[in-house]
Amino acid sequence: MTAAFWNEQAERYAAKPVADPDAFERKIAVTLARTRPSHTVLDIGCGTGSLALRLAPSAAQLHGLDISSEMVRIARGKAAAQQVDNVTFHVGPFDDSFAALAPGSLDGVCAYSILHLVDDREGALRRIFRLLKPGGFLVTSTVCLGETWVPFRPLLWAMRLVGMAPPVQILSKRQLAQDIEAAGFVDLEQPDVGAKAIVGFMVARKPG
Ligand SMILES: C[S@@+](CC[C@H](N)C(=O)[O-])C[C@H]1O[C@@H](n2cnc3c(N)ncnc32)[C@H](O)[C@@H]1O
Repeated sequence: MTAAFWNEQAERYAAKPVADPDAFERKIAVTLARTRPSHTVLDIGCGTGSLALRLAPSAAQLHGLDISSEMVRIARGKAAAQQVDNVTFHVGPFDDSFAALAPGSLDGVCAYSILHLVDDREGALRRIFRLLKPGGFLVTSTVCLGETWVPFRPLLWAMRLVGMAPPVQILSKRQLAQDIEAAGFVDLEQPDVGAKAIVGFMVARKPG
């Protein structure tokens, strides 16, 4: 169901301007500040590849993974049009079936607008931790709907019923930060990128 939902959204998603361009640029700046020219970085839930393609000139190798073949088709088209040759896009869910990259092989993982969409967030964070080298970074921008007065739960339920929303986990920033630390990450920071209150932007590091 998830892949079908995002496949159906892909063209619209690609055509939509970035919702909050200033915050997006600041998030990219934070991510780039941790990225080195020798780095291999994975972008989970890469969508149409906007982030991976922005990071590519500053790293040795970028990988983008997305469950939606349509999102990846568009991402590959953008990479070809921009003549970017150090980005590899993979189609599939971020679960234990993802074996394209070896444990301990990554310098950084980006998870923008994805951790609230996966069924098993704790498992996903443990998987990210395993994929990283010691000292590797995680940057995540996650929709955290758990701390507002807006009744998102029934709203999302109604939207899902008519196919307008994917399954979304309602979580708080506090819960997300706890989950990141429980997976083994240290030095958790929440840089102020001027994003909306419902966005949890967090950076952390695998010890080492
Ligand atoms: C809200 S979009 C975010 C796209 C991009 N990261 C961005 O910030 O614009 C969520 C993306 O995650 C992908 N996705 C959802 N669940 C996934 C999963 N379990 N594994 C991999 N990708 C997933 C969707 O196909 C979609 O492209």
